[in-house]
Amino acid sequence: MKDPVVVVGIGEMGGVFARGFLRAGRPVFPVTRGTAPEAVAAAVPKPALALVAVAERDIHPVLGDLPSTWRDRVGLLQNELLPRDWKRHGLEQPTVIAVWFEKKKGQDVKVILPSPVHGPRTPLIAEALEQLEIPVRVLESEQALEFELVRKNLYILTTNIAGLEAGGTVGSLWSRHRELAEAVAEDVLSIQEVLVGHALPREALIDAMVTAFEADPDHGCLGRSAPQRLQRALQLADDAGLEVPTLRRIASRHLRAGAD
Ligand SMILES: NC(=O)c1ccc[n+]([C@@H]2O[C@H](COP(=O)([O-])OP(=O)(O)OC[C@H]3O[C@@H](n4cnc5c(N)ncnc54)[C@H](OP(=O)(O)O)[C@@H]3O)[C@@H](O)[C@H]2O)c1
Repeated sequence: MKDPVVVVGIGEMGGVFARGFLRAGRPVFPVTRGTAPEAVAAAVPKPALALVAVAERDIHPVLGDLPSTWRDRVGLLQNELLPRDWKRHGLEQPTVIAVWFEKKKGQDVKVILPSPVHGPRTPLIAEALEQLEIPVRVLESEQALEFELVRKNLYILTTNIAGLEAGGTVGSLWSRHRELAEAVAEDVLSIQEVLVGHALPREALIDAMVTAFEADPDHGCLGRSAPQRLQRALQLADDAGLEVPTLRRIASRHLRAGAD
């Protein structure tokens, strides 16, 4: 029997990965919200992978409480993720995937682009997704991973935040509201630069975002988390003393005052 895996958070993503691991012949041990991770770790101290599939708002408490024997075998997949998020928990080399497939409640998986993966447990992620015919792209360096994480953040934040104003699809955002999309993207990149601690290749990142628009032009701009994403972005901008004028203008029109 193959070594088991642990999946923390059995939501849409956790469900997809669990199915992939099971089809690949790996036992899957779930950690749900009501489960003590230490109790699972007592049964499975050294899984082949401990995939953390909770949403971005829940990731820090989960990483803070991670059983010590899982720390060198963590997998991460959240949107809005950057290396600072795992480094603040002292995790040196998690395996990270920038997810470019969509899984919504009541729908099957929809692939937008091959999903880039990097880290020591990459073969396990690839093995699971291969079972589901979801393509992955193996990255060779931490720099390439940082680029891909920022690219995904740029896509999700630009489409969600500009979508508050323009609605519609990513295709229509780029063809009919390009000025708005570019202004939002520049503000988002200013925040991302502070978060990664250096200047970013803005043009290449915007080109890479547009490649994803072109891969699925009918993708809706707005997600259910768009207002929260804008609020998080503004909090980060405030902390960094950034102006981000377009984000503030959109917030003044579309966020309820005092909403959390
Ligand atoms: N779905 C997509 O298409 C997609 C695409 C790309 C990236 N992503 C990213 O993938 C991540 C997960 O998204 P999702 O759509 O799978 O979200 P989701 O369906 O909300 O699943 C998250 C799951 O984590 C559980 N959870 C929360 N805190 C937990 C804890 N402390 N211990 C154990 N389980 C816990 C939640 O339980 P409760 O139900 O009790 O809250 C829920 O079942 C997000 O960061 C998202 O941005 C998703």
